[in-house]
This record gives sequence, structure tokens and C-alpha cells, in this order.
Amino acid sequence: SATTQRAGDGALEVGGVDVHRIAEEVGTPALIVDEEDFRARARRFRDAFCGAFAPFAGADVYYAGKSFLCTGVARWVEEDGLGMDVCTGGELAVALRAGFPPERLALHGNNKSDAEIRRALEVGVGRLVIDSLPEIEQVAAHARELGVRAPVMLRITTGVEAHTHEFIATAHEDQKFGISLSAGDALESVRRVLAASDALELVGLHSHIGSQIFDVGGFEVAARRVLELVAQVRDELGHTIAHLDLGGGFGVMYNSQHTPSTPEALAAGIATIVEKECHELDLEVPRLAFEPGRAIAGPSTQTLYAVGTVKDVRLGGPHHRLYVSVDGGMSDNIRTALYDADYSCLLSGRVSDAEPAVVRVVGKHCESGDIVVKDEYLPADVHRGDLVSVPVTGAYCYSLASNYNHVPRPAVVAVRDGRILPLVRRETEDDLLALDVG
Ligand code: LLP
Repeated sequence: SATTQRAGDGALEVGGVDVHRIAEEVGTPALIVDEEDFRARARRFRDAFCGAFAPFAGADVYYAGKSFLCTGVARWVEEDGLGMDVCTGGELAVALRAGFPPERLALHGNNKSDAEIRRALEVGVGRLVIDSLPEIEQVAAHARELGVRAPVMLRITTGVEAHTHEFIATAHEDQKFGISLSAGDALESVRRVLAASDALELVGLHSHIGSQIFDVGGFEVAARRVLELVAQVRDELGHTIAHLDLGGGFGVMYNSQHTPSTPEALAAGIATIVEKECHELDLEVPRLAFEPGRAIAGPSTQTLYAVGTVKDVRLGGPHHRLYVSVDGGMSDNIRTALYDADYSCLLSGRVSDAEPAVVRVVGKHCESGDIVVKDEYLPADVHRGDLVSVPVTGAYCYSLASNYNHVPRPAVVAVRDGRILPLVRRETEDDLLALDVG
């Protein structure tokens, strides 16, 4: 990555741009995306998975737009040769505005509206991932009306308990996504799609087990169970499933306890697993697809905040904690409050010789849970006006941003070769008031 500490005053440079310049030109808080870092990682995932499955029927890599999406990012992903996964009409609109080729898009969603399905079919999205039995007939009806054959995948719930936060695990039984394997609904869903072959083309099967996962064991179990279904479909329905999408979920390093594998190691590991399972079931290895979001977007970005109030809070005895308030908070990063995420931070505007102090970085919202970084060290002389950066905020921070307390959303900029390129402009008070028509 092109992030370096500048000699002299020690200010951080990202993509060849000094953080002070970013603060002056675009203000704070700002999300700073290192364009080359994002794109290199996108290409690396593409190459790793395409390479690992090249001896078989190949693979496709879809960037999961939900992790962070704007037209600028969609254009990068397009140019770098990935597909993209969108999960709402809004994400689809961004992709289309960016000129993303619809045939390289996949539309997800457990509760797609009629309008979303129609739009996807009208523009010719490459695959619609069906999430329930009733949705099969819903999509088929629209396809018939429009006179098209809808390319569909079926999202299968494999019953895998992924080792991640409860809110982002998605393949155990008692949650809203997918068509259950255990209840026999999965085979029935294949039967129904094949029976509606005038309106539906069965592209393949899909499984996504969760997010921020480090252990390939979950993918192993999921792959085995879905491939068993592929074999069952062959044996009982005489149909060959040509595509298998194993979703995303690859973890990133928020702290030193997180140890992500390289994309190459992940791809090789999953290829070995899939090949072995296919061999045991006497199946041809289907064409694979993967949908990494966090692992591409997350590490590329840091959030730059300006420090405001610093409060020294006594905790009893000799213990105390510096509460360092910044000019954003849970409206631009709710992950700490929502998932107990563990971010770090650094003084990015200068170097300091002061002793390290235990700090908690908090926002400006009216809520004591408005914590961005729970526990970290910063130089004890951190003060109002300092710039503080929180790394690895590229995924699920801006995309989960809100206007809580009528705080405008931050700016998002890309930096590259010493230049600042705006991606999403800062929201203004006028933007907020424009919606209020009372
Ligand atoms: N594919 C599907 C079908 C998904 O549902 C997701 C994420 C992905 C791919 C991408 O997963 P990733 O590679 O980014 O882990 N807001 C939560 C994460 C929610 C993930 C939702 N689905 C968070 O901030 O941790």
C-alpha cells in the first residue's frame, strides 16, 4: 500500500497525498480510499480464483457491492475485470449508472420487489439469485410477461455454523436467507425451476455462509453439502448443474488476532476441497464463483477524523481513560456498536514523543454506545484539532452510514499518485433538509 509516514512532521501520506491536504480540501470526517490498493486487491482476488480453478471449468469473481459502492468504484471493478453482486434496486441503479455491463451483474436479496425483479430482467442482469420457494414463481411470472428467460441461481442454506458474529452468519437454519437443504426444500426448488424452463434458466446453485470468516472449514462443509445436492439433482432429475457460487465472507485484519489468508492460499484451499468433493461424488467440477466484498474494500480505506473534546475519565484507583471525541462516530461507523468490532486508530497528522495513553475514540452522537475505537493507545498529548485515522474502514462503514442526529454523511475520496479524486461528496445540511417536506 502507498501509505507512508512523512519525514519531518510525521504526517501520514496516503496515495502520495498528505492527510492535512485532504482535511483542508475535503474536510473531516472523510473516508480516504487508496485507489491502487483497492484495485490491486480486486485483481488479486480475480487472478487467484481464476488461476486456482483454471484446470477445471474456471471461476468468476464478483465484487460484493454492499460492502462499499459508488459509481467510481463500480467503474474500477468493471475495468479490472470482475463481476459485481448487487442486492437492491438502489445498488443496481449505481452499477447501471456506472455503465457496468448487466450480464456481469448478479442480483441478490431475500425480499426483492416486483420492480427490482422487472428492472433486473429488463436490463439483462446475468443472474438473479432466488432466495425462497415463492420467489421462483414470482420471477417466472415476470419473465413470462416480459418475454424473456430469466437466468437464475438458487441460494441454498447449508446449515453451516460459521464462526463469526451472530448478525453476519447466514447459513445456519434459523435465519432469513436461502432455501433450506435439511427440509428438502432445496431439491424441490430445483425441480420447480426446471419445470418452469420456459421462463427460467437454471444457471446454478449459490451458498453464502457469512462474513468476516477466517476458517476455510465452513466453506468445506458448505461446498460438500451443495455438491451433494448437485449429485442428487443429477441422479434424481437428470440435470447437470454447471455453476456453483460459494459467496463471499473472507475476513480482514482489524486487529492482530485476525489472521487472514492470502487470496492465493484461500483459492488453492477451496479448489482442493471442491475437487476432492467432486471426485468423491463422481461429478465434473462446475464453474465456480466467489463474491468477496470486505476483503477487497476494507483494507483500502481509512477514516480521517478531527479531534474535538478530550476528556480524562477516572476509572477508580490509578486507572483512567482518555475519551477522545471525533467529528463523526456511529453515523459513519456503526460496526463497533453493532458487532462489537475492534478497530484501531493512529495519530495521523503529526508525530509525538508523549507517553502512550489508553484512549477510547468516541463520536459526537447522543448515545454512550457511540464508540468508534474501544481501546487503543494514542500519545497522551492528543488534543483538539489533531487528525486521527481509523484504518480498515472501507467495507460496511459508509454503506451502513446514517444521518442519526442529523449528522451529514462524510465525504469519500480516492487518492492516487498525489491526487485527490472525489468519489462521494459530503452531505450538507441542505441535503438533509431537502427531504423534510412538512
Ligand atoms: N455474497 C453475499 C450473498 C452476501 O450476503 C455477502 C455479504 C457477500 C457476498 C459479501 O461478504 P464479504 O465478502 O463482504 O464478507 N454489515 C456486516 C456484513 C454483512 C455482510 C452481508 N453479506 C458487517 O459490517 O460486518
